[in-house]
Amino acid sequence: MAKDTPQTFYLKDYTPFGFDVESVHLTFRLTPETTRVISKIRFAPKPDAADKTFFLHGEELQLISAKIDGQDATPDVTDKGLTCAVPSTPFTWEAEVEINPAGNTALEGLYMSNRMYCTQCEAEGFRKITYYPDRPDVMSTFTVRIEGDEPVMLSNGNPMGAGEGWAEWHDPWPKPAYLFALVAGDLVNHPGSFTTRSGKEVELNIWVRPGDENKCAFGMEALKKSMKWDEDVYGLEYDLELFNIVAVDDFNMGAMENKGLNIFNSSCVLASPETSTDANFERIEAIIAHEYFHNWTGNRITCRDWFQLCLKEGLTVFRDAQFTSDMRSEPVKRIDDVITLRARQFPEDNGPLAHPPRPEQFQEINNFYTATVYEKGAEVIGMLKRLVGDENYYKALKLYFERHDGQACTIEDWLKVFEDATGRDLQQFKLWYSQAGTPRVKVSEDYADGTYTLTFEQSTPPTPGQPDKAPRVIPMAVGLLSPNGDEVRGTQVLELTGAKQSFTFDGLASKPVPSILREFSAPVILERGTTNAERAFLLAHDTDPFNRWEAGNALAKETRVAMVLDGAAPDTAYLDALEKLVRDDEQDPAFRALVLSPPSQADIAQTLHERGYTPDPQKIYDAAETFTQTLAQQLETSLPRLYAATTVEGPYSPDAEGAGKRALNGRILSLLTRLDGGEQAARQYEAAGNMTQQYAALAALLKAEKGDAQSQAFFDQWQDDRLVMDKWFALQIACAAPEKTAAAAAGLTKHALFDMKNPNRFRAVMGALAGNHAGFHHASGEGYQLLADSLIALDKLNPQTTARMCAAFQTWKRYGSDRQALIRAQLTRIAGAEGLSRDTNEMVTRILDA
Ligand code: BES
Ligand code: ZN
Repeated sequence: MAKDTPQTFYLKDYTPFGFDVESVHLTFRLTPETTRVISKIRFAPKPDAADKTFFLHGEELQLISAKIDGQDATPDVTDKGLTCAVPSTPFTWEAEVEINPAGNTALEGLYMSNRMYCTQCEAEGFRKITYYPDRPDVMSTFTVRIEGDEPVMLSNGNPMGAGEGWAEWHDPWPKPAYLFALVAGDLVNHPGSFTTRSGKEVELNIWVRPGDENKCAFGMEALKKSMKWDEDVYGLEYDLELFNIVAVDDFNMGAMENKGLNIFNSSCVLASPETSTDANFERIEAIIAHEYFHNWTGNRITCRDWFQLCLKEGLTVFRDAQFTSDMRSEPVKRIDDVITLRARQFPEDNGPLAHPPRPEQFQEINNFYTATVYEKGAEVIGMLKRLVGDENYYKALKLYFERHDGQACTIEDWLKVFEDATGRDLQQFKLWYSQAGTPRVKVSEDYADGTYTLTFEQSTPPTPGQPDKAPRVIPMAVGLLSPNGDEVRGTQVLELTGAKQSFTFDGLASKPVPSILREFSAPVILERGTTNAERAFLLAHDTDPFNRWEAGNALAKETRVAMVLDGAAPDTAYLDALEKLVRDDEQDPAFRALVLSPPSQADIAQTLHERGYTPDPQKIYDAAETFTQTLAQQLETSLPRLYAATTVEGPYSPDAEGAGKRALNGRILSLLTRLDGGEQAARQYEAAGNMTQQYAALAALLKAEKGDAQSQAFFDQWQDDRLVMDKWFALQIACAAPEKTAAAAAGLTKHALFDMKNPNRFRAVMGALAGNHAGFHHASGEGYQLLADSLIALDKLNPQTTARMCAAFQTWKRYGSDRQALIRAQLTRIAGAEGLSRDTNEMVTRILDA
């Protein structure tokens, strides 16, 4: 049977809705399978509207009745919504619909998670709750009445009253429907409070299921720190008397910024030293900040349409990164972010899914919550800040909040604010929003008579729909070092605007060593012929911590690439440099841990691909093993001392300093385990007083295939804790040898605690499978097949999570013809699956079209 051709939406087709929504009243009569939603909405036709069609979105709704000004109405209903003849003067629309929260496994709209009612409306989930103009540029105030027997019943804004079986809420701030939220269930709160700088007292709550109360304290502190930080750095205060956060177990994403009622995936808010790792704590702090920061960048100023998504997401990611840098370590945060950018955004930008930070078309908007919109969107803001300077940046932001508060905006509005605040023309800069692809910047140098010249040439490879690209503005932060290691020119931001451009530096006594793209000042790929000796020099002397790490990272990559291509032995100069650094107690432990963490195997595959080779995942794995084994042997005599010196004693505290030490300690333990057969790791497992140490020990043991007993003990200890069990599922697959990975994952999908309907559990298993590079890409093709089987099964229940996981196949054209054929077969099988969702269909079609 032929599938319907899916509808494509285009940015260029934007037309405003023909009606203002003056107020929204909603009544919910909650029952798990037959919830009634009664809406009463005041509409006013816009006199000058180009399109006067009264169309309300609505999907999977059973319409019980519809009225206009009290008279029965007879709308035309389709599976996408309804149209209706309406008066040309303001009128009241009333509708009653029935929905089935218990049967909602897609987790969009109103659904049940662990006997609790909750909603997820971004991007287009409100249309599964009632008929409504479900678009972000339609803003209104919401009054909500909830009827049901749940002990706690919450919605946005302020409580207006409650009694036996009912509760009423009113949100005074006009908002788009995607920010609507409702939660009802047996919940307990961890309370807190915050006094804003103008003296307003805000009540704070984190709502959780009974039993999770002891995992809220950290999140509450993170929330207060975020509120304070946004006042201090951006001058932004919270604007309601109440701020609620709710933890839910079944959630497609990390968290959601609903006005006054943020809803969090429990993995992104619940934390305790016994159950959460340092990485979990850091992520929780960041995500609480992120959702809180949306109150201004997202809620008070929202997006005109979903093509503008990076307006709120790129900016809010940028702001949460600033926050984390301020709370923890700026260079470590920058290095972490660049690692993530290269691991997630570069493959996207250089493959079949490439799209600009502001896409121009989509079939399913959920497929565009991507690393490009988020992470590259944040990088673009970082470049803007670098180009205009800090003072101008904050001046422009002040203007943005003054000019656009209460509006639904575009990227044009955003850039205009910067042009007006700084007098700068941003036409060329705007290309960063409209062009896909990662620019390559070729660097060459010249030195004569005291003058040093750096020449840059930029080009961007073709991406789907964009064969040719114009040169962009690229801020290149550069410093120069003299051969003895002194900095002879401090950091300077060179503005690259042409396809080819040179910059000169005069008065240099000798040929300097350049440190280019400091702080990773632009999301580009540098191409520069340089030597390992120079990299080792920069690793030792660069004053820019990012570039110091980058030099070490480049050395690591060169070594591994040479091992893969020529069967070379690990580079001894690099091993020596590493040894020196590991032993250098003057250096920040977190930084040492980063330098000691080898580039991922996927990263090596990407590097080989960029250089025109076909990566062989098994060879890349073997090189990684050999390298790590050699490093362990080289460090043999110092490892026990280093292990002891980095072990953090005393009560656990999730601060950056302790976390940095534990990260280094974990790296050392993994090296030590290669030499001592797991003795130390087994001891650490026994003695561990926190999850970071317990997890590091288990990981080291599983990697060495010596962890069966501990894995069983871990299961026995934590089987009733869902979030810890997610770690248990994932770790076994992440640590499996290539030839055993698919079987390990397949075995776990048969485990009694495997539950496909829970996105965290599904991602724990399938994400770990896709993340085990050599295992997933094992020549047998079993990894591909298992993932495809699982995606086909999940698509019937949860299209959003299925579609997102399809990205695991996006790099398929990198690999050899055998693997390509295996992957193509699986993608074709998914594409042909009966009743495939629009979400998944769009993803596999784009990937296959490469
Ligand atoms: N607005 C999003 C949540 C969202 C994403 C809802 C996609 C619906 C569809 C939220 O602000 C967000 O960006 N969350 C991120 C985490 C954040 C720290 C980048 C997430 O959920 O992964
Ligand atoms: Zn966000």
